[in-house]
Amino acid sequence: MKFRPVRGTHDLLGIDIEKLNKVSYEISKIAEIYNYNKIETPIFESTDLFSKPLGEQSDVVKKEMYTFLDRNNDSLTLRPEYTTPMIRAAISNNLLNNLPCKVFGIGPMFRRERPQKGRYRQFNQINFENFGSDEDFADVELILIAKKIIDKLIPNNKYTLHINSLGESKTLQMYKEELKKYFNKFKKDLSLENQEKILTNPIRILDSKNKKDETIVSSAPLIINFLTKDALLKYENVKKYLTEFKINFKENFSLVRGLDYYCHTVFEFKTDSLGSQDTIIGGGRYDGLIGLLGGKNISGVGWAGGVERIMMLMKNEKKILDIIHLVILDEKYKSYALKAYKKLTDNELSVFWNYKLNLKKSLSKANENNASYAIIIGEDEYKKNKYTLKNLKKGNQKRLELNELINTLKNDKF
Ligand code: HAM
Repeated sequence: MKFRPVRGTHDLLGIDIEKLNKVSYEISKIAEIYNYNKIETPIFESTDLFSKPLGEQSDVVKKEMYTFLDRNNDSLTLRPEYTTPMIRAAISNNLLNNLPCKVFGIGPMFRRERPQKGRYRQFNQINFENFGSDEDFADVELILIAKKIIDKLIPNNKYTLHINSLGESKTLQMYKEELKKYFNKFKKDLSLENQEKILTNPIRILDSKNKKDETIVSSAPLIINFLTKDALLKYENVKKYLTEFKINFKENFSLVRGLDYYCHTVFEFKTDSLGSQDTIIGGGRYDGLIGLLGGKNISGVGWAGGVERIMMLMKNEKKILDIIHLVILDEKYKSYALKAYKKLTDNELSVFWNYKLNLKKSLSKANENNASYAIIIGEDEYKKNKYTLKNLKKGNQKRLELNELINTLKNDKF
């Protein structure tokens, strides 16, 4: 029997690992600039942590969660998103005694969606959350962080920041009722998929990609007309800060997000280069969620980004260290060569020996590994107590004593 990765999952190796390391490294640096602390949570949690907070009628809860009973008949779920586990962790570890609490994380999430380009059943998310701040600037700070990360990792990518406000949860409830009435009027003209949503999740009809329903959807009532004075003021403030920070944005009144917990500001960074799975980062405010999960009644705002989607747009990353290949031409010189091996690793230089005693095979392996240098050890080198250093990119070479060799490589001067 031949095993293959399960549908919608994939192995990461080679260039993808370099990219993943770079994502992890750069987001940690940016998190430090804005003072967000890293946390890691378990990959599975109690199912209850997700079902109600994400919305019983959301696609994620209705059909995408990997839920199973363990041997004690406890219902567990592989985390489909990171916001609720992070809140759970903040409550479990008493982090909410000191507000605002700013955290970030990176790790695998699981959703049983239909796989396609940029959409997987196991994928990695980066996640930034700010718990306990009503301040409008908190929303903008998160957008600034998202933008900095995108600009750092995919500097030449064309993207648009979409924003909207969903107002207070009461407003959203009222708006959903209005949408139900509106879509019911056109029920028989809507696609079957959207007809079903009228009762269960009418706001998701707004961001439906179904071309057939475009005209009906485009004339639907707009949430902006339902916002309270306070909510409008908040929305105006967010836009004002974005303008002050010279962040371009597009108001998109059909932006509603896929999970139930949102209110007020919602946003998405969408790229032009990924086809239909074009959202690289999405998030917003979720003021009732922390209370719902048993924490204090405080607000929250955050976002998550799809690492695989970002990686698809990143240029290939070079390894951080230059690879130095050791080329040993005979068994006799092994101990002499391994003296250099020890000194290289002691000096944190990146060394590779393929255990072959053959010049041609060793150099071809060095080429395959995209090595920068080869250190060649044969009879002459051994007798003269020297090492031949060859620059594989330029082709030049010279003989050096061990200390000279190390200094040359450390200073990358050859
Ligand atoms: P989300 O929109 O469900 O939000 O996911 C955020 C991002 O994760 C998406 O924009 C996309 O880049 C990536 N993503 C989602 N599903 C997949 C998939 N199947 N394959 C590959 N990438 C995917 C959330 O998860 C919220 N928790 C975001 C948030 C944080 N809101 C507030 N705080």
